[in-house]
Amino acid sequence: MSKFPENFLWGGATSAAQIEGGRCLDGKGLCHLDYVYFRGPKTPCNFMLKKDYEKAKAEEAILNFPNRRGIDFFHHYKEDIALLAEMGFRSFRMSVSWTRLFPTGLEETPDPEGVQFYHNVFKELHKYGIEPLVTMIHYELPIIFVEKYDGWVSPEVIPHCYRYLKFLIDEYKDEVKYWLTFNEINMVTAVPWLGGGIILDRHGEFEMPKDFRPFGPLPPEMADRWENASHQALHHQFIASAMIVKYAHETAPQCLIGNMFNLHHLYPETPSPEDALRAHQETEFNMFFCDVMAGGSYPKWILSYYRKNNINIKWYDGYEEILTNGKVDFISLSYYLSSIVTADPKRQERIGSFIRTLHNPYLETSDFGWQIDPTALRISLNELRDRFHLPIYIVENGIGAFEEPDSEGKIHDDYRIAYLRSHINCIADAIQDGVDVIGYTPWGCIDLVSCSLVSMSKRYGFVYVDADDFGNGTYDRSRKDSFYWYKKVIASNGEDLD
Ligand code: BG6
Repeated sequence: MSKFPENFLWGGATSAAQIEGGRCLDGKGLCHLDYVYFRGPKTPCNFMLKKDYEKAKAEEAILNFPNRRGIDFFHHYKEDIALLAEMGFRSFRMSVSWTRLFPTGLEETPDPEGVQFYHNVFKELHKYGIEPLVTMIHYELPIIFVEKYDGWVSPEVIPHCYRYLKFLIDEYKDEVKYWLTFNEINMVTAVPWLGGGIILDRHGEFEMPKDFRPFGPLPPEMADRWENASHQALHHQFIASAMIVKYAHETAPQCLIGNMFNLHHLYPETPSPEDALRAHQETEFNMFFCDVMAGGSYPKWILSYYRKNNINIKWYDGYEEILTNGKVDFISLSYYLSSIVTADPKRQERIGSFIRTLHNPYLETSDFGWQIDPTALRISLNELRDRFHLPIYIVENGIGAFEEPDSEGKIHDDYRIAYLRSHINCIADAIQDGVDVIGYTPWGCIDLVSCSLVSMSKRYGFVYVDADDFGNGTYDRSRKDSFYWYKKVIASNGEDLD
């Protein structure tokens, strides 16, 4: 008998900014990610400084903006959904683009063609019995909020955002049951541009410190520089999220709304109490985002952390009640890797695009240096069960790799099969441990633009897309070996992983 429940939501995940393309078509406006330009297939572009932003605007005609092209899902969605259906998907995670519906973000009413586009996509999914799982905001902020305000640091964004979120529920509540509010909400504190549209050196002169380590609390001397701004932005996102959860509970009880955070499992380097304390503190920091969204209030320790580090949040009027009344229905998470912390964070190396860790000799790494650790997922799932007692949807997981078709046009991605197999096994074990995992949607089920690298070179898909970093290629889709493997996995409800 399968270890997975009968109605387990097998599927895959994407986001609008990374797949849709069709920027400026049918009145579509631009969001902050459309201003991130390509700098090389291994060069992370997660942070935005004033000079980069000015350059992006001044040289708009000559710079390369892969997010504006995506994989042209806008025109290929029927073909793409047919491929997902062929694999037997029961769930498809996608996001709605705020600026396709409200091109500048300031309109009172949405663009009818944008509205229709998503009706068409949902209809196509339902045709095959695929349940849409929709992220309301997957790292997309209409550019005007960067220009005119200070991204999510400004409370002015909240009413505009709420109008957009409310519209989503009113318009699509009968087509979409599962919703997520903000993608990886913790990223606003780790990568403030990506998560919050915050240009760092607007908050005083800024140089990336050598020992910079985005995950976990920042050293106190940095707090004044941008931790203040990013936690203020986070506060506003918590408010917008809780407001829409409350609204959906009142007006669309058939909908279930989850949070979404990047699960970051940490081990202490040694059994020394100092290392253990550091690992504990950073784990608490990782869980804090769920504490607020699922528990409905700020934990005491973070308030004293704010005080100690001179982080002065301007609390939104009535915020305590808003948070208590806007608790999510389920927890969702992305999980890619684990890392090792020490009491001396300066020793931690940067690996991959933005993670700092020590090397773990027991683990293998991906092409991009991410340490592959399915067991850590099982451990964390158990911890989440004990802490929140809510269903858990694993809405991102996977391995990014450089891939080129062989002479017969095939991609033999056995490393992806191995990665996913080991994680699915650990999810099955977690379910046996009593964790209520309701679904699994590996990231980038169809190749898409990498978020940290704004590059097509880092691929996650079961489906290959013939497009390169410069928009060359046919954009034809083809099946990788993992496509056929995942199809078997779904058909056997997770039993046949060979
Ligand atoms: C998550 C994001 O952080 O990781 C996705 O929600 C992203 O948008 C994914 O694409 C993988 O990261 P990357 O940088 O490899 O694309």
